[in-house]
Amino acid sequence: MSKLKKIGVLTSGGDAPGMNAAVRAVTRTAIFNGLEVMGIIHGYQGLIDGDFVELETSSVANIIQRGGTILKTARSKEFMSKEGMQKAYDNMMRSGMDALVVIGGDGTFRGATEFTGIYPDIKAIGIAGTIDNDLYGTDFTIGYDTAINTVMDAVDKIRDTASSHDRLFFIEVMGRDAGFIALRSGIAVGAEDILIPETESDIDELVEKLENGRRHNKTSGIIIIAEGDELGGAYDVSNIVKKRLPHYSIRVTILGHIQRGGRPTCMDRVRASQYGYHAVNALLEGKSGVMVGIVKREVVETPFAEAVKHHNKVRTDLKEMTRILAI
Ligand code: F6P
Repeated sequence: MSKLKKIGVLTSGGDAPGMNAAVRAVTRTAIFNGLEVMGIIHGYQGLIDGDFVELETSSVANIIQRGGTILKTARSKEFMSKEGMQKAYDNMMRSGMDALVVIGGDGTFRGATEFTGIYPDIKAIGIAGTIDNDLYGTDFTIGYDTAINTVMDAVDKIRDTASSHDRLFFIEVMGRDAGFIALRSGIAVGAEDILIPETESDIDELVEKLENGRRHNKTSGIIIIAEGDELGGAYDVSNIVKKRLPHYSIRVTILGHIQRGGRPTCMDRVRASQYGYHAVNALLEGKSGVMVGIVKREVVETPFAEAVKHHNKVRTDLKEMTRILAI
């Protein structure tokens, strides 16, 4: 029998479509197992402020299909201090919470690691939730699938106008440190090139590719750029190319935060449900300090330290494939 009585659930860092589905799964699995559940508002900041709301099964009705997070989210600076953590711990004790399910990215798990290191009586399980897909220990983070589909829809529309005007578009997608969104969505839209932080971007090669396309009667094109690419954002890259190819009609689109919103896809809803269900069961088994994710279709646990230390490798073979498919 587990000693757990009351668990807290929070979302932290950048929001991601599917977080609500995870909150629903955590809440209902916990209640099914006789636990009480507190929703913590605004991530770790809510823990410091004591901003809690009791969650019933009905509190999470009708949210599986909604983007954003009903618990709101934040990146709390105060939680990074010993004083902030002490306040958070005191509030947890006062309300009788003995464990946390934290949904977010690497910053979220770093916070949980430090917190449970100082207060080892608190158990914490993480759920991989970020559109960037940049966590080690999972093939898919919550929100990634929705984000790449959002990018694909938007770029398909841009392709229409690019083609009508014989234009070259530089489209910047999210990914401060990672090119997962750029690579997958770039393949899906048939991009002429994809620039990502994990591989060296070569302007000579890009210009040659574009010129070669023109020789083969390509009159328009799409270049996808991850915001973290070492050459800079879409404006920077387009300015360099414009100097080399002044006769091209060039436009830039920054897709921005549209990528973080919207109804989660089926895949994100299902994975989020699996993660939430598994996270509560892991707590009931006495586990702590691990992130729940999916590797090769199996739900697995990865220690926080591992999840934040490494980066999943991008499939550079897919970049090579893109190079051939874009001739
Ligand atoms: O959610 C991850 C991410 O989208 C990054 O790719 C991006 O750089 C960052 O969040 C921007 O977040 P914000 O605008 O909330 O600071």
